[in-house]
Amino acid sequence: QGQKMWGGRFTARPDEIMQAINVSIDVDKRLWQQDLAGSKAHCAMLAKQGIISSGDSQIILNGLETITAEIEDGTFPFRAEFEDIHMNVEARLRELVGPVSGRLHTARSRNDQVATDFRLWVRDQVDITIQQLYDLQGALLKRAEEYADALMPGFTHLQPAQPVTFGHHLMAYVEMFGRDRSRFVDARARMNENPLGSAALAGSPFPIDRHDTAKTLGFDRPTGNSLDGVSDRDFALESLSHAAICAGHLSRLAEEIVIWTTPYFNFIRLSDAFSTGSSIMPQKRNPDAAELVRAKTGRITGSLIALSTVMKGLPLAYSKDMQEDKPPVFEAFDALDLAIRAMTGMVLDLQANRERMAAAAGAGFSTATDLADWLVRNLGIPFRDAHHITGAAVKLAETQGVDLAQLSLSDLQNLEARITDDVYKVLTPEASCASRQSYGGTAPDQVRLQIQRWKDLRS
Ligand code: ARG
Repeated sequence: QGQKMWGGRFTARPDEIMQAINVSIDVDKRLWQQDLAGSKAHCAMLAKQGIISSGDSQIILNGLETITAEIEDGTFPFRAEFEDIHMNVEARLRELVGPVSGRLHTARSRNDQVATDFRLWVRDQVDITIQQLYDLQGALLKRAEEYADALMPGFTHLQPAQPVTFGHHLMAYVEMFGRDRSRFVDARARMNENPLGSAALAGSPFPIDRHDTAKTLGFDRPTGNSLDGVSDRDFALESLSHAAICAGHLSRLAEEIVIWTTPYFNFIRLSDAFSTGSSIMPQKRNPDAAELVRAKTGRITGSLIALSTVMKGLPLAYSKDMQEDKPPVFEAFDALDLAIRAMTGMVLDLQANRERMAAAAGAGFSTATDLADWLVRNLGIPFRDAHHITGAAVKLAETQGVDLAQLSLSDLQNLEARITDDVYKVLTPEASCASRQSYGGTAPDQVRLQIQRWKDLRS
């Protein structure tokens, strides 16, 4: 029979290249905790149901404890000849407790075993991600509070648009990461069903209790169809989709950090702890962490495409293609984990250059909309005409090389005779921001209201 667990009907050993393409232990050994938890739950259930004796179950459980200790202290022999984590554990169990170990695989297949292990792993990692996003939101809220009334230019097309506050800008990301977090929460609820007991594909003739193992493993219920139970990887795809959207959000903030730290913008500074130098250019302060967060999006979105492509067109139930599900998921979540934590570090670290941002907030005729709105509100001019008059004022200011607020009253009156010097009150970036009191607007009061709303949501 050789060493192969499935070797009963085989007479020759597999070709070397067959083994090379088949082996997955280097990747799936990461599932060891989930695999042992699944085996313990299954073993205990088999005994409860009288499918194996309680004596045998105790011997197996003790062996599994020994294996846990061996893996923890690094003495467990991971062996490529046993293909994957499941057979490595089972092979070791046999060495430790003898032939009784063979009873563990009663009413179970590697197909439902791996589906269970992987679901548990993704669920655990989603829980970690949810907590990390919570921490990132906490960091953003803290900084938004500090900068609730710090002026900065708001952009559209990356061109000066209207003044906003830095707090308001940071709070935009609190919203995004809040949606990301709730997407992961939803995904967790949907994935939390137990595939164990689906067996190879058709279920089991033994009187197993799938509700019992579901409970032991923290699942809400067993999966409702054994074919689907072993062949479904939606939980991984859905989590990768959410990871990709989240990575997109991280990349946008990362990009803004890259822009803001250039000397041309000079809006923020990252401390030495989050900057790197150049080996040739002594003056350099590079935002490498932000660039890498921006770049991790590639791996994460790539992983989603990779797994979608693996799953596409697979007939029911299990196919070995599905062994290729783990590398993209591990890679994506390792990248996301790092990216969220690096972003949280940068958010807590950054220092805004308030004077420079405030000066930029007022530049580029950023209060032109306020002038047009003043004409509408005070003179009853239709907005389209007010827009036209304001355009002429901008053109004039541009020729004179001044800001809108520096145009003389007579210059403004040449464009519209009824303008009074009351208009200057709305032409500062402070006034512009303070006036935007609509719900969710950039007025510092509104920004503080949203900060409070989020704090209440979190408590
Ligand atoms: N290593 C396999 C995987 O990750 C475990 C399931 C193998 N099942 C089988 N029938 N060959 O998918």
